Amino acid sequence: MARILITSAIPYINGVKHLGNLVGSQLPSDVYARYCRARGHEVMFICATDEHGTPAEIAAEAAEMPIEDYCAEMHTTQARLADGFRLSFDHFGRSSSQRNHGLTQHFAGRLAENGLISEVVEDQVYSAVDGRFLPDRYIKGTCPECGYENARGDQCENCTRQLDPVDLINPRSARSGATDLEIRKTRHLHLRQSVLRDELDSWIDSKSDWPILTTSIARKWLHDGDGLQDRGITRDLDWGIPVKRGEHPWPGMEDKVFYVWFDAPIAYIAATAEWADANRLPEESWQRWWRTDKGAADVHYVQFMGKDNVPFHTLSFPATIIGSGEPWKLVDYIKSFNFLNYEGGQFSTSLGRGVFMDDALDVLPADYWRWWLLKHVPETSDSEFTWESFRLDVNKDLADVLGNFVSRVTKFCRSRFDGKVPEGGTYGPAETRAIDELVARVSAYETHMDKIELRKACSELREIWTVGNNYFQAATPWQVLSEDRDRAAAIVRFALNLFPLYSVLSEPFVPDAAATMKSVTSCDPAMTWPDDIRVAVDRLRPGRDIHVPDTMFRKITEEEQNDMHARFTRQ
Ligand code: MF3
Ligand code: ZN
Repeated sequence: MARILITSAIPYINGVKHLGNLVGSQLPSDVYARYCRARGHEVMFICATDEHGTPAEIAAEAAEMPIEDYCAEMHTTQARLADGFRLSFDHFGRSSSQRNHGLTQHFAGRLAENGLISEVVEDQVYSAVDGRFLPDRYIKGTCPECGYENARGDQCENCTRQLDPVDLINPRSARSGATDLEIRKTRHLHLRQSVLRDELDSWIDSKSDWPILTTSIARKWLHDGDGLQDRGITRDLDWGIPVKRGEHPWPGMEDKVFYVWFDAPIAYIAATAEWADANRLPEESWQRWWRTDKGAADVHYVQFMGKDNVPFHTLSFPATIIGSGEPWKLVDYIKSFNFLNYEGGQFSTSLGRGVFMDDALDVLPADYWRWWLLKHVPETSDSEFTWESFRLDVNKDLADVLGNFVSRVTKFCRSRFDGKVPEGGTYGPAETRAIDELVARVSAYETHMDKIELRKACSELREIWTVGNNYFQAATPWQVLSEDRDRAAAIVRFALNLFPLYSVLSEPFVPDAAATMKSVTSCDPAMTWPDDIRVAVDRLRPGRDIHVPDTMFRKITEEEQNDMHARFTRQ
């Protein structure tokens, strides 16, 4: 049994997330966390809301709410939706927590003591109309790269180039629209990442098992242009973590806060501390996950994120950890994802384009979405959501294969065997063949899951369901019954035995269906991950009552597909 720490990139607080956000970190991390728990490992699975920075402030202004209230409300909403999608976080924290304030200020203090912070006088855009500086997304203008007119100060959404507010052509305030902007000097803290370049470089080099997507992005930032740049870690904003040096004031920084990307990853640690607080556990209980001097040396730490997050997790956050000179846990494996597109374009929060988590759950329950999203998780390239593909996969995989199998077997058992696990007969060649196939497929499934190759795992799981469905179809117990009741009994018993097995194997992907399959046969002792498939499919004691569940998955009609397409494809 290992100890596995799993974090998902923390979603911005500014509104309900779309399915592209969900599939880019929270959902795949949940599958992995559930799998690791099922294999008997001790798991700590952490996520939080990312509450600072200009997106949060802008969203709160648009909602005409005080920012604290806005964040509190949106945190509750996101937590509810996470539950709705069955995301099994051990804790869903907040980057605005007191724990994160303390830890962020602590790290900044340590970095300063180690000579890794410089104070730099920068040019920043100031708006007299707004009475404030306009960092990051507070400013919009024309992208110098592609000419897109709505580029934000930190990044162009059109061509994805990272920008500095002073780069924009025809800049204007995103708050007031003011264009009479001036450049003012303001003093900021920079993290001297460049000092740690060689150390980060060899650390990345040592990660030969990491996905290419992860290491190629890290290497590009380490080697392109002038190499790793020092980064500003403070901002002229009101909302955020006040700049302090540990617990002490930082002269000249009194009106500033830390940059959101400095405090957000520290929230992984802070949220684990929040977990301990929420459960009234002592400090050691979270430190054993994070401090290598307090037990975390044998923790395996896996991070999940979209590719746009990779530079911050491969370079900036490790620079914070390494630069502190303290024994904090560094990530062991970074699983990153490409983007999911929506019907020929991009999902867009600002344009409201695509399906958002709340709408999705209004349309259909979590498992339908989980299944489609994981089957198409953008692992090796971008992928695309279309309503047609959603309908086809739900109907084929969930309704025709899995749902059909459960329904046929349980109904047949109810009508012909009195709703009890049938007694009599023995397993023969057909069962042996099915077992052999299951042994091979379950082993392949485990290999894919261990390597976090989720698409392969997903298709193997579908094949595992198909083994049962095909077995039952070919065994034709409804024909055998009249001549050889014992043989029919053995067939139905074998099929019923597959449910607890399928329940355990499927739970990472479709947890509600897994619960339903478990409910068919109340298993005693409870089924755990199968060491030996032969034993696993011969556990049910004859004579026990079974439960016939309601339809597990319903089919989506073409008409519904068209309705949903029309409803969600607003331009
Ligand atoms: N909020 C960021 C995003 O959605 C992710 C932050 S991850 C963390 O892209 F490292 F900062 F925690
Ligand atoms: Zn651009």
